[in-house]
Amino acid sequence: MPKPMSKPAAPTAYVCGSCGARAGKWHGRCPDCGAWNVMVEEPDRTAGGARFDPAAAEPARLYAEVDPVATERLSSGFAEFDRVLGGGIVPGSVVLLGGEPGIGKSTLLLQAAALVAAASGPVLYASGEESAYQIKDRGQRLGVGRAPVYLLAETCLERILDEVERLRPALLIVDSIQTTVSTVLQSAPGSIGQVREAATRLLFAAKQRNLPVFLVGHVTREGSLAGPKVLEHVVDTVLYFEGERHHSQRVVRAVKNRFGAVSELGVFEMTGAGLLPVPSPSRLFLSERAASVPGSAVLSAVEGSRPLLVEVQALVSTGAYGTARRTASGIDHNRLSLLLAVLEKRAGLSAVGEDVFVNIAGGLTVSEPAADLGVVAAIASSLRDRRIAEGTAVFGEVGLGGEVRSAGRAELRVREAAQLGFTRCVVPAGDAARTTAPPECALRGVGSVEEALAALAE
Ligand code: TYD
Ligand code: MG
Repeated sequence: MPKPMSKPAAPTAYVCGSCGARAGKWHGRCPDCGAWNVMVEEPDRTAGGARFDPAAAEPARLYAEVDPVATERLSSGFAEFDRVLGGGIVPGSVVLLGGEPGIGKSTLLLQAAALVAAASGPVLYASGEESAYQIKDRGQRLGVGRAPVYLLAETCLERILDEVERLRPALLIVDSIQTTVSTVLQSAPGSIGQVREAATRLLFAAKQRNLPVFLVGHVTREGSLAGPKVLEHVVDTVLYFEGERHHSQRVVRAVKNRFGAVSELGVFEMTGAGLLPVPSPSRLFLSERAASVPGSAVLSAVEGSRPLLVEVQALVSTGAYGTARRTASGIDHNRLSLLLAVLEKRAGLSAVGEDVFVNIAGGLTVSEPAADLGVVAAIASSLRDRRIAEGTAVFGEVGLGGEVRSAGRAELRVREAAQLGFTRCVVPAGDAARTTAPPECALRGVGSVEEALAALAE
C-alpha cells in the first residue's frame, strides 16, 4: 500500500450519487435526499491547482474548419485483437478490458505489450496485482524477450503518471483499475470514488499525450464490471474477455466502442505458451461435436462482421413433478422460455414437466435472434429423440406466431457453413429467396417452426 494513503494531499468532499448534495464527511445516508449508501468521495478541485484558466480555454470552432486528424492506429500485434478494437489501437484512447479472474486478461495484455513494444517503442505495464518477478515469470512463458516493456509494480496513480512522464511510452497498461489508488482521496482501493478518480485522471493523461491506455477491470460474479458503471461511461472502449475457465477457448468482445463496431469478436485459445489467435473459430467450436446424438444442432451465427458456426446442445429429460427446470447457458434464459412456449403452441411439442437444458458448446454466448432456430431445432431433436440429418446447419429468428423470420447476412452464414463441409442449410424462406448458395450447399427455405422441424428430420 502506498504511504501517502494516511496523509491526504488535499481536502476531500463527499458527494451524493443520487442528488448531488455535498458534505464534509461521509454519511451512510445522504443528509439531503435520504438515499442510503450513495455518498462518494471526491477530491476538492477548487483547493488544488485545477482552477479554470480562461487564457487556456479554446473558443467554439466551426465544424467545417476543424481539420480531420489522420489517426494512425497502432497494431496490438494480434489481428484478432485489432479487429475487436475496430482496426487497431487508437492513440489517446482508453480501453477497458473486463473479465473474470483467471480468464487471461493479464496474459493477453502482456503479450500485446511485447508485440507493441517491439514494433512501436516502449510500453509501460503498471501492475498493482503482481510483482515484477511474477510478471517476468509469466513473460518468459510468453516469449516476451528483449522488447522494451517496462514493468512497474505500483498501485499509486500519481507514481504511474510520473513514470508515464519520464518514459513517454507508446502504450500504457494499468492492471488493474480496481487496485489503483490516488493520494488525493482517502477511500479504500476499489471504492467507487477511487476507481472513478483513477479512470478520469488516466483518461485526461491519455487525451493530453495522445497515449493509448489499457485498463484491466475485474467483473463481479454477476458478470458486470466491479464497482462503478461510471467506468463504462468514462472510457472510449469496453471489451469483455469471456470463456469458461475449464475450456481453452477465449473470446474478446466489444460492448462499447467509440472507434468501431460493437459485437466484434476476437477468438483465442489458451495454451501453455499464452494466448494463440484462432483465425478459423468455427472449426474450433465444432471440433468436439458428436454428430450423431439427438439434441445437437449446428447454428450458423454472425457475431459482428464474422460468421461463426456453433453447436447448440439441448437435453430434455423428465423432471420430478412440479420442479421442471430450465437452464440456459450461452443464450438468454427468457428467450428459452419463449421458444419453449412457441414449440408447444405452434408445433405441438410440449416440454411441460420436463427439465430442459440448453447450452452453447465451448462457453460461447450468442445473443442474436437468428439463434432461435438453432435452439428450437436442438430442443425438438432431444424431445423427439431423433437426431438432425448429418451435414445440416440452421439459422433464423422465431416469432411468437411460430413463423420463421429472415435473419440478415444469410449469404455470409451459408458460405461459412459450405466452407466447413455442411451440405444443407435450413433457413428462413425470405432469406432463401434472396440468397445464392454455393453449389455444394443446398438451401431449404422454411416459413414456420413446424416446417423447419419437418425439414430437419428429412
Ligand atoms: P491471467 O492472465 O493471470 O488472468 P487474469 O489476469 O484475467 O486474472 O491468466 C491466468 C490463467 O491463464 C491461469 O489459470 C493460467 C493460464 N495460463 C495458461 O494456461 N498459459 C499461459 O501461458 C499463461 C501465462 C497462463
Ligand atoms: Mg491478472
